[in-house]
Amino acid sequence: MSEPTFTPRVFSGMQPSGGLTLGNYLGAMKRWVDMQDAGGFETVYCMVDLHAITAKLLDPDVLRNNTRELCAGFIAAGIDPEKSILINQSQVPEHAQLAWIFNCIARMGWMGRMTQWKDKAGKNAEAASLGLFAYPALMAADILVYHATHVPVGEDQKQHLELTRDIAAKFNHDYGVEFFPITEPVIEGVATRVMNLQDGTKKMSKSDPSDKTRINLTDDADAIAKKIRKAKTDPDPLPEVVGGLETRPEARNLVNIYAALAETTPQAVLDAHSGAMFGHFKMALADLAVEKLAPISTEMKRLMNDPAEIDAILGRGAERAREITVPILERTYDIVGMLRS
Ligand code: TYM
Repeated sequence: MSEPTFTPRVFSGMQPSGGLTLGNYLGAMKRWVDMQDAGGFETVYCMVDLHAITAKLLDPDVLRNNTRELCAGFIAAGIDPEKSILINQSQVPEHAQLAWIFNCIARMGWMGRMTQWKDKAGKNAEAASLGLFAYPALMAADILVYHATHVPVGEDQKQHLELTRDIAAKFNHDYGVEFFPITEPVIEGVATRVMNLQDGTKKMSKSDPSDKTRINLTDDADAIAKKIRKAKTDPDPLPEVVGGLETRPEARNLVNIYAALAETTPQAVLDAHSGAMFGHFKMALADLAVEKLAPISTEMKRLMNDPAEIDAILGRGAERAREITVPILERTYDIVGMLRS
């Protein structure tokens, strides 16, 4: 049987769990914009509100506000709702419908091995929600309900994307079809794992209790400069070659952040700054970060003044999305043997 060909299509998503970090921007959103603008792909970007209630339920108004704010963040970062399909997950019901089928494809053992499940459920897995356990099956449905071929994400999502491939392969195998694509994770560039500013061995995260550990996209110029100035470093000057950063996680992180913001390589950053002490390099990095991030934060605030416009954009996005998802779900139901009304 010849391999079916799939339209080159990018899908990626982000949780509206409140706040956006430099990690979200460099590891995901900025790369989404690049793929949108590069051409050659249809691009679909999604706020995953159904995922956002798996760890804990949110106040309904807070969740609505987070979702609109995330949408504003996507647009402010350069996602163009005319070029890309911009959606909120719950407004495209085929995500949740396909997720149910995938709940019956995925095995308990597969889900139990997910490190994110283990981290988030912690010692008290009995008290975690069933939704948290099933989270990766919904994520697979997000991707496969578009027959997406490429998924740009940060490093922390790698295992979930491997599971997505396993689910697609098992569905195809069990039903004897070549229906779902085996999706390519796109985990590329220097910023796929932006680290915590106070501990270079931990990921930068919006859920860290200390605000000093991250740059938020809503931070003003002073806050950005202060956090970079106070970022943990070591007493040595910057080395001449990237190999010299290997055992210096904090230094490496700042160089990588600089390279990602300046759209260059870590080696080019070292070529320009080697021998500099951190006091000096941090000033240059703070200027660059403010130059790149301040316009995003200003634009986000402007967009948030018109929530009705955001809702209208998401309404149009959902309509366009369903032109793709409804036929794929219908074909899935036919393959599985569900009656059509
Ligand atoms: P979420 O909301 O935790 O993060 C969204 C994206 O940001 C990336 N990211 C980072 N990248 C580099 N360094 C960091 N410190 C950093 N922190 C976050 C994440 O890797 C991710 O790409 N499960 C997903 C959401 C999701 C999804 C999907 C993604 C749901 N369905 C389908 C892709 C396809 C999540 O929780 O991402």
